[in-house]
Amino acid sequence: MLVCHCHAVNDRTIRQCVNNGARSEHEVREACGAGSSCGSCRPAIDRLIELHHDSQSGINDSGAQG
Ligand code: FES
Repeated sequence: MLVCHCHAVNDRTIRQCVNNGARSEHEVREACGAGSSCGSCRPAIDRLIELHHDSQSGINDSGAQG
């Protein structure tokens, strides 16, 4: 899914930036350029960062026992 149309950056690339340590929309912008032009994609970038952190914190739910 294309997130930043100005720079043709998709959600996978943004997730990769977050995996590599980008913690805010600003840091994603520095890492891959997404959000550095018109800025209309910044809320979507914020959302992807939030989702990423949510999925990280839910990791403990999947136990091997049972
Ligand atoms: S759509 Fe991302 S900066 Fe314009």
